[in-house]
Amino acid sequence: MALTGELILYLFKTKILKNSSLTRDIVNLRIAAPEDFCRKAAPGRFIMLGNDNNLSDPLLKRPFGICNWGKNWFEVVIKMVGKGSRQLGLLQEGALLSVHGPLGEGYPVKNSAPVRNHDESVIMVAGGMGIASIASCLLPTAVNDEIKREKVLLYGAAKAEELVLLDKIKECRPNLRIETITDDGSSGRKGFVTELLKTELQVAGNVTFACGPEPMLKSVQQVLQEFNSKGFLSLENRMACGFGVCLGCVQTIVGDAGSGDVKSAKVCTQGPVFPAEEVIF
Ligand SMILES: Cc1cc2nc3c(=O)[nH]c(=O)nc-3n(C[C@H](O)[C@H](O)[C@H](O)COP(=O)(O)OP(=O)(O)OC[C@H]3O[C@@H](n4cnc5c(N)ncnc54)[C@H](O)[C@@H]3O)c2cc1C
Ligand code: FES
Repeated sequence: MALTGELILYLFKTKILKNSSLTRDIVNLRIAAPEDFCRKAAPGRFIMLGNDNNLSDPLLKRPFGICNWGKNWFEVVIKMVGKGSRQLGLLQEGALLSVHGPLGEGYPVKNSAPVRNHDESVIMVAGGMGIASIASCLLPTAVNDEIKREKVLLYGAAKAEELVLLDKIKECRPNLRIETITDDGSSGRKGFVTELLKTELQVAGNVTFACGPEPMLKSVQQVLQEFNSKGFLSLENRMACGFGVCLGCVQTIVGDAGSGDVKSAKVCTQGPVFPAEEVIF
């Protein structure tokens, strides 16, 4: 992908409007943003985020899904796992940030999306922090009219306290059915989210959107294949630049139809959302 004027335009400095703690190590940041940026936000797109008070350590910005947005703000949910995410997650209201985005290609929610039949009901599958990406289909009021016919949210996590954003999602989508499942049985059934997916796929006419750790996505792909059902997976490969120049995020996908070949895709520009049948794990 060429480095376009648009990408340069949406490299901006801004500040945190609010930092809300969701668990001991997961926070929800609301960040000020230009209206132009917010107009380009879409479900499944992401940003590269840097701590403007310390741009040298770590040197690289970190990728986070845009989980919600309004006219001149957007939100991310950050799990603090290492140096970069911890520094960002500990910043408080007024702290300065560097933002690059919105980046990538998201979920086919728009009526114009050529890859989706809009008679299909959407099954959303989130594993752990994959909820940040899935929430971008459910929270923004701008998306309400676009997604149509969401059927259910299937949400799995290690334990009950790691099921975040549920209150917000219920508030925005009071009629949405939500099923939870946890590794330890502390909320919903004990087990993996793919077990819930199998139940939903007993009835045909669905499309699945999924985001979560790679083993979960691999398992979702197998289940979709088993039921001959269509889906889209949002990948979270590690990224250095986020706009197509470093090749740090490359993913093997199937080659041209019928050729039997494989090819490489840049997750940051060609994804992060890919048709499930195209990804080679
Ligand atoms: C498109 C995209 C969207 C993302 N959205 C979110 C989001 O909404 N919320 C969120 O909390 N995180 C999200 N991530 C993951 C997030 O970018 C990483 O957790 C973060 O970059 C880690 O940086 P760090 O400096 O804290 O960790 P590091 O010190 O670099 O690494 C700490 C640990 O985390 C692991 N790790 C780092 N990056 C990833 C990754 N991408 N996937 C799996 N394990 C990783 C490392 O292997 C290591 O074990 C997203 C990633 C991508 C590519
Ligand atoms: S992150 Fe640099 S090419 Fe994708």
